[in-house]
Amino acid sequence: MKYCIVYGSPRKKNTYQAVQMVKNKLEQLEPSEFTEFFLPQDFPVSCTGCFTCFMKGEQLCPHRRYVEPMERAMLEADGLIFASPVYVMELSGVMKNCLDHFGYLFMPHRPRREMFGKSAAVISTTAGAGTKYAIDGICRSLSYWGISRIFRCGVSMWAGSFEEMEPKRRARMENALEKTAVRLYQSLKQGAHVSLKTKVKFLMMKQAVLKFAQNPIDQDYWKAQGWAQGETPWKQLKGKKSKC
Ligand SMILES: Cc1cc2nc3c(=O)[nH]c(=O)nc-3n(C[C@H](O)[C@H](O)[C@H](O)COP(=O)(O)O)c2cc1C
Repeated sequence: MKYCIVYGSPRKKNTYQAVQMVKNKLEQLEPSEFTEFFLPQDFPVSCTGCFTCFMKGEQLCPHRRYVEPMERAMLEADGLIFASPVYVMELSGVMKNCLDHFGYLFMPHRPRREMFGKSAAVISTTAGAGTKYAIDGICRSLSYWGISRIFRCGVSMWAGSFEEMEPKRRARMENALEKTAVRLYQSLKQGAHVSLKTKVKFLMMKQAVLKFAQNPIDQDYWKAQGWAQGETPWKQLKGKKSKC
């Protein structure tokens, strides 16, 4: 299996360690290939809000040299893993900034058909509370990219590090991380599955793109995909064992 991992912490501590536990489990289940991106190093620029990606095309984004390798790695991967610490009850700023650069992949713009067949895991660590909000923030982007199966794992440490955690809590959290890896792996083995919720969302977005938004490059893209003419991304998922 191929995985693309995005780390949203500037330091290799708790969130990094949590992801290593998931990686180790995935490796146990099947030898795997991981392409990893570390933020902010691999994305050292902030979205300027220029609207170029939306109105003229993502190829013209002033930060394309950072966006393109990550998009390519995500499209080539079977599974995606996003991980962020909780910062002031939210996802980290570097993770949010990274996701902002992929606004053009949202369904009402130019989603990629490959995304509809993927599964993802979203992991967050916190000293006390807030993983729900950090994970929600990431899941929102992923679901608007077309991903139906997203497995969430929030690690509330009540300590500064894994080593300082109360042993029972640590064992429970490590178990939860391993389970997340198993669920991600099993969903990938089952093949592409697009949920009814994602299908309905896609069909609603189709109305927005074709009738209301009137952005020519979005409309041209939808026509080129055949989606304006009735095709759907889930029927187009070729080469995947599909349960769509
Ligand atoms: C700027 C900042 C904001 C934080 N905000 C919270 C918070 O709102 N709630 C909380 O419980 N922990 C908070 N923390 C603690 C981190 O979420 C926690 O230590 C996390 O595991 C750090 O992950 P890392 O080691 O991967 O950086 C914050 C830490 C930082 C640096």
